[in-house]
Amino acid sequence: MEKKIVLSGIRATGHLHLGNYYGALRNFVEMQQEYDCRYFIADYHSLTTQPDASLLNDNVRSILAEYLAAGLDPNRCMLYVQSDVPETCEFYTLLNMHAYLGELEKTVAFKDKARKQPNNVNAGLLTYPVLMAADILQHKAHYVPVGKDQLQHLEMARNFANRFNHFYGCDFLVPPYPYEAKGEPVKVPGLDGSGKMGKSEGNCIFLNDDDRTVERKVRKAVTDMTPTEPDSPMSEPIQNLFVLLRLVAEKSVADQYLAAWNDCSIRYGDLKKEIAQGIIKVISPMRERYEQLYADTDYLNKVRREGAERVRAIVRESLDEMRRLMGIRMF
Ligand code: ADP
Ligand code: TRP
Repeated sequence: MEKKIVLSGIRATGHLHLGNYYGALRNFVEMQQEYDCRYFIADYHSLTTQPDASLLNDNVRSILAEYLAAGLDPNRCMLYVQSDVPETCEFYTLLNMHAYLGELEKTVAFKDKARKQPNNVNAGLLTYPVLMAADILQHKAHYVPVGKDQLQHLEMARNFANRFNHFYGCDFLVPPYPYEAKGEPVKVPGLDGSGKMGKSEGNCIFLNDDDRTVERKVRKAVTDMTPTEPDSPMSEPIQNLFVLLRLVAEKSVADQYLAAWNDCSIRYGDLKKEIAQGIIKVISPMRERYEQLYADTDYLNKVRREGAERVRAIVRESLDEMRRLMGIRMF
C-alpha cells in the first residue's frame, strides 16, 4: 500500500526549543517510520516577521543541524529548505488568484501579527496562508502535523484546494488534514509561571543550551510558597513545573514529587534540580550531535542539495499540472 504523505515545516526564526521538540520535532521523528514524510525549513515565511538578512542563513543552517540532531534521517524522509525549491513560488502565485482578501484579512494569525508589527503589515504577512497552502498542496500531502495555532491555516489550505478543484472541475488538489499525534497533544509551558514556552515569550530552553544554562534557567523558574496544608489547590507555576517534570523524568520519580507536594514535604529546589537533570539528559546528546553537524558544512550542503533535488522533481509535476489546468502554455 502507498504510504500517506505527511508534510510539515518550521519557520527559520531562531534556535529550536523544548516546546518545538515536544510539540513538533519528536512527532516528526516518529512519523518517519510509517509515512512518506517531507519536512522543510520555512525561510520565506520567516521573512514576513524577521526581515534581517544577516540572520537568515545562519538560522537555516542551525535548524537543519537541529533537525538532524533530533533524529530526522535524510534516508528516511525528504528534508529540504523552502527557498531551495523555487517552484513553490510559482505555485503560490497561481494559488493567490483563488485566495480572497476578505478571508486573508480575517485570519487570526494575520490580525495578531498586524497588531504586533503595525509598521510592517506587508503583503507577505497577508498571504502567509497562501504560501503555506502552496507548500502543502504541491506535495499533495494528506496530513500536516501542526500545533493548534496553525489549524486555521490548514483549514484555509483545504478551502483553497476545494475551491480550486471546483473552479476547474477537477480533483487535482488534495485537501490536507491535521495529523493528530498519538496520545495527548503536548503544550510545553514556560518557566515564567504562565503560558507556553515560545520564542516571542522569551522564556525558552533551547535544544543547544549547555548544562549550566539549563540549570540556571530552571533555577530561576517561578514558584510559589511551599504548600502548608494537604489538599490545597496547586498554583499554575507549580502545575507547569510538574508538566515539565512528567515530560523529562520517569513516571515513578514524578509520582514521588507529587506525593511530596501533597503531604507538604516538597522542596522546590529539589524539584527544580530533578527537572534540570531530566532536561539535560534529553537535550545534551542532541546538543553534541548538533555541534558536530553544525560544523560540517559539506554534509549540511549535501543534505540540502539532495533534499531539494528530490522535492523539486516531485513538485515540478504538480506545478506543470497546475499550469495546464489554469491555461498557461509555454511558447
Ligand atoms: P514559537 O512559538 O517559539 O515561535 P513556532 O510557533 O515557530 O514556535 O512553533 C513551531 C512548532 O512548534 C509548531 O508546530 C508549534 O505548535 C510547536 N510549538 C511551539 N511552542 C510549543 C510549546 N510550548 N508546546 C508545544 N508545541 C510547541
Ligand atoms: N506556519 C507554520 C508555523 O508557523 C510553518 C509552516 C509554513 C508550515 N509552511 C508550512 C507548517 C506547511 C506545516 C506545513 O509553525
